[in-house]
Amino acid sequence: MIHSQRPCIITGNWKMYKTIQESIDFVKKLIPLSASSPSKIFLAVPFTSIQPLAKEVVGSPILIGAQNMNDASEGAFTGEVAARMLRDAGATFVILGHSERRRLFKEDNAFINRKVKRAIVEGLRPVLCLGETREERDENRTAEVLSTQLKECLAGIEPKSLVNLIVAYEPIWAIGAGNQSASPEIAQDAHLICRKFLSELLTPEIAEQIVIQYGGSVTPKNASDLLKQPDIDGLLIGGASLSLESFVEIVNDRSHID
Ligand code: PGA
Repeated sequence: MIHSQRPCIITGNWKMYKTIQESIDFVKKLIPLSASSPSKIFLAVPFTSIQPLAKEVVGSPILIGAQNMNDASEGAFTGEVAARMLRDAGATFVILGHSERRRLFKEDNAFINRKVKRAIVEGLRPVLCLGETREERDENRTAEVLSTQLKECLAGIEPKSLVNLIVAYEPIWAIGAGNQSASPEIAQDAHLICRKFLSELLTPEIAEQIVIQYGGSVTPKNASDLLKQPDIDGLLIGGASLSLESFVEIVNDRSHID
C-alpha cells in the first residue's frame, strides 16, 4: 500500500554496537546492496561513527544520525554532546526519548521536550520515541500514555516546525523481545491513536505528513506485514539492523508498495 504522501523511512538503531571500522565495513556493503530499496534508509549510529559514516555515504541516499543529544546549546555538561556538534559531524537526524534513555537514564518528557526544541533550532530532524509498558497496555491505558507523551514532548512547539518530525511508536514490551513484536493490527491501532492525537495537537494537515515508525522486535519475517498497515510509515530497528543480511532484506522489501 502506498501511504498517501508519506515516504517509507527505515531506521537502523545500532545502540552501543560497532566500532568505527565495523561501521564502515557495514556501510560499504550496504550501499550497493540497498541501491534499489523503495524506502529511505537512516542509520542511528554511535557518536564515534557519525563522522566517518557521514563521509562514507556521500553520493548515496543513506542518512546518518545520532541516538541522543543534550538539550543545551553548549556548556559545562561533562560527557554530553550538543546538537551543533552532531550537525558538524554530519548527522541529519537524532533519536530522542528512546525507552532505554527514559528507563536507564531517567529522561522524562520535559527533558525530551527541550531536546526536541533544540534539535529543531539546530536543524536536526527529531525522531521522537514513545510507547507503553506491558502493565499500561494490560490496564487499557495505551491511548492515555501515548497522548500524554506526545502532548508533553511537543509542548510549546510551533506546529509548522513539526512537519519533519518522525514519531517512533515502540511498545516497551516489544523492544528486544525476540518474537514479542506487536501484531500489525495492534501496531496500526496505536499509530492511528498517535495520528489522531497529532491532528488535534497540531493540525490535521501536519499530522497527515508526519512519518510514524513502528519499532520493537522487527525482523525480516514481520517487517512487510507491519509496513502494509496504512498508518505505519516506516520502522525503527534495533537487533535486526546489526546484521547486514537481515537489514538488507528488510530495506529491500517491496511488498508494501507493489
Ligand atoms: P529491537 O529494538 O528491534 O531490537 O527490538 C528496537 C529499538 O530499541 O529501537
